[in-house]
Amino acid sequence: MPLVSLKNVLKPAFENAYAVGSFNVINFEFLEAILETAESKKSPVIISIAEAHFRFIKPENICPSLTAMAGRSGVPVVLNLDHGMSLPVVSRAIRNGFTSAMFDGSKLDYPENLRKTHEVVEACRPAGVSVEAELGSVGGNETGGMEAEANPDLFTDPEQASAFVRETGIDALAVAIGNVHGNYKGEPKLDFKRLERIRDRTRIPLVLHGGSGISDADFRKAIRLGIAKINFFTGMSQAALSAIRDRADSLGAAYHDFPLLMQEVKKRVAETVAHQMDVFGSAGKA
Ligand code: 13P
Repeated sequence: MPLVSLKNVLKPAFENAYAVGSFNVINFEFLEAILETAESKKSPVIISIAEAHFRFIKPENICPSLTAMAGRSGVPVVLNLDHGMSLPVVSRAIRNGFTSAMFDGSKLDYPENLRKTHEVVEACRPAGVSVEAELGSVGGNETGGMEAEANPDLFTDPEQASAFVRETGIDALAVAIGNVHGNYKGEPKLDFKRLERIRDRTRIPLVLHGGSGISDADFRKAIRLGIAKINFFTGMSQAALSAIRDRADSLGAAYHDFPLLMQEVKKRVAETVAHQMDVFGSAGKA
């Protein structure tokens, strides 16, 4: 089926207490692994490309195949810009057929985040593109490069979230409740009370970035409290790396060795995605 907007997949997820995984794509193996798993799990899926990853994969190169592949699949697929940092990048995503854009103004002060997010919503609406924004600031590095610890001073304020959602008209809100990108330093400690207050005051689908490292039980609890989209990258990257490490010693230099290695990478990424779709409760929902 043709690509669908984020709003389209998050509404039923939010209403029926499951979450749709947003999986970052950095190459063709990841893309195939994620789409094939969504198909076999009969799960809606969000394919995300982060601005920080444009240096590994250019939207202009991957989007035509991605759009065609989604068109041939029987499950709803969203193409989401992850952590777009400016309006020109969001416009580039729209030109390339993205159906959702996350604008990340979390490093800006509140009035500036509000103003720029509103600008992004105005640009996306006519194109039928959904908008996700972030309030408070999720710690760590979007590319998952280091161990991070959440800073409670930067957690999302429930009252501010209510005003932010009302004034910007966004479709989904990324929250900072103890989640961080990349590897967690110690055990993640999510502030569920805060999450519940944000849900009660905003009543729109909430997004949990920094999915890798969070326990299955915490995912399930967060989903019951309004999380309808979960961003996940580092876990897939680690699965790919462990496939390479496991194979490294037996690797030769024969004609097929590299493509076979890539096939193993794809298999491990697919297994990781399948597990997450079961935990998120999206399996069987397409
Ligand atoms: P992880 O890499 O920690 O799973 O987070 C991914 C993410 O939030 C991308 O936006």
